[in-house]
Amino acid sequence: MVSNSAGRIVILTGAGISAESGLQTFRADDGLWCGHRVEDVATPEAFERDPETVQDFYNMRRRQLRDVHPNAAHEALAKLAAYWDGEVVLVTQNVDDLHQRAVAAVVPKDTYQFYNMHGELKSVRCVESDDVFPWEEDITPESANPISGKAGTLRPHIVWFGEMPFFMDEIEDALNRCDLFLSIGTSGNVYPAAGFVQRLRYLGRAHTVELNLEPSNGTGYFHEAIHGKATEIVPQYVARILSGEII
Ligand code: OAD
Repeated sequence: MVSNSAGRIVILTGAGISAESGLQTFRADDGLWCGHRVEDVATPEAFERDPETVQDFYNMRRRQLRDVHPNAAHEALAKLAAYWDGEVVLVTQNVDDLHQRAVAAVVPKDTYQFYNMHGELKSVRCVESDDVFPWEEDITPESANPISGKAGTLRPHIVWFGEMPFFMDEIEDALNRCDLFLSIGTSGNVYPAAGFVQRLRYLGRAHTVELNLEPSNGTGYFHEAIHGKATEIVPQYVARILSGEII
C-alpha cells in the first residue's frame, strides 16, 4: 500500500453514503422528510409540544440500525483512515453508526479524527444534566438517566433545526489545514456543512471534490465532481488517493 507525504484530507459525508446500506436519505421523493414535517420531528419546539411523536421518529430510526451494515463506501473511507499517512478528518452529518462500525474493523492511524456534527442515534442526552449516555433501546417516558435514576429527562442526542452543530471549532481547524476535501452523498441544503466548500474556496488551499449520485446544490463550488453510486465511486477515488495519484 503506497501513501505519500502528509497531505491532509477532510471528508464530509451525508445521507447518500448510507443509502445503499438501506437507510433512507432526507430529500428523496420517498425520503425521511417525505412523511414528516421538519417542524414536527426535528426542532426543540416540536419536542416540547409533542415529545412522543419526536421520540417515536428517532426510536424507529435507532431500531433500523440493527438491520443495516456498512457498505463499500464506508469501508473505503475506513481504509483511508488506516493507511493514509497524513491526517484524515471524517466529518459526518449522519446520525447512523456506519462509519464507526467500518472504522472499528480496521486499525486507524493516530492522525484519524471523526466528528459526527449532527449527533448520533445511539446516544441520549439528559435535558437537565446535559450528560450524554450510549443508548441502544427506545426512549420511553419510563427511560431514566443512568446516573440520577430520574425518568422523563432523556432526549435523542441529535442536533435539531435551530440548534448548534457539534465540534464546529475542531471542524473549522481541520478546514483551515486541509489539502483535499471530499463531499460525499450530501445534497448541500443544510448549513453550516453546505458552506464548507465555499469556505475552502475562499481559503484557496484545498482541492475540492464532490462525490454524489447527482449534482448537489453547491456543485459549482467544487474543483471536480464525480457522479455515481457511493459504493462505486468512493472506493475508486480512495484507491486513487492511496496510490498517490491525487495528493
Ligand atoms: P439529503 O437527503 O439532503 O441528500 C442526500 C444526497 O445523497 C442527495 O444529493 C442524493 O442525490 C445523494 N445520494 C442518494 N443516494 C446516493 C448513493 N447511492 N450514492 C451517492 N449519493 C447518493 O441528505 P443530507 O445532505 O445528508 O440534518 O442532509 C443533510 C441534513 O439534512 C441531514 O444531516 C439532516 C437533514 O435535515 C438534521 O437532521 C440536522
